[in-house]
Amino acid sequence: MANTKTPAKTAKKKAAQPSGAGLGNTQLEKFFHDCLKDIYWAEKNLTKALPKMMKAATTDELKSAIETHIEETVGQIGRLEQVFEIVGKKAQAKKCEAMEGIIKEGESIVEETEAGSMTRDVGIIMASQKVEHYEIATYGGLVSLARTLGMDDAADLLQETLDEEKQTDITLSEIAENNINWEAEQEGESEEEEE
Ligand SMILES: [Fe+2]
Ligand SMILES: [Fe+2]
Repeated sequence: MANTKTPAKTAKKKAAQPSGAGLGNTQLEKFFHDCLKDIYWAEKNLTKALPKMMKAATTDELKSAIETHIEETVGQIGRLEQVFEIVGKKAQAKKCEAMEGIIKEGESIVEETEAGSMTRDVGIIMASQKVEHYEIATYGGLVSLARTLGMDDAADLLQETLDEEKQTDITLSEIAENNINWEAEQEGESEEEEE
């Protein structure tokens, strides 16, 4: 029955008036709302981009780390939808130019590295960490803004996501430092084998 990680105790219709009256129309409230739309777009697009990265990765270790984070990302989208509800706004995505650029960079790294190489994994890890760092900056700011605006329930949800992004960043660093960077270094020159 209770199949979500976060207990959603608020009834759907009543959630618009939680601890206050939702988001109003001050400049800061509008800014907060815009940031929510931006990261909502980013997370949704990551659920399309991450599976491609997972398929392109060489090692099972990296594939499985990305797989875990795809599942988390789906949960993060759900949390953002709860936040929209808490602040009394419809869940809406607005194109995030920064995340679009970071995703494109990741795709070109895949194109430019050899399939099955450890160097490709090094590249995918770096690209993924750029994604995580952008998310950490965004959620860090959103948590603090939500607290400033007196929306503690929203802040708590955003904090849960922030913790997941930070943990993912740490996991990726560990994978790189424990194995992949060293193995990639052993690959030496690129072998352009003719087929
Ligand atoms: Fe995320
Ligand atoms: Fe993430």
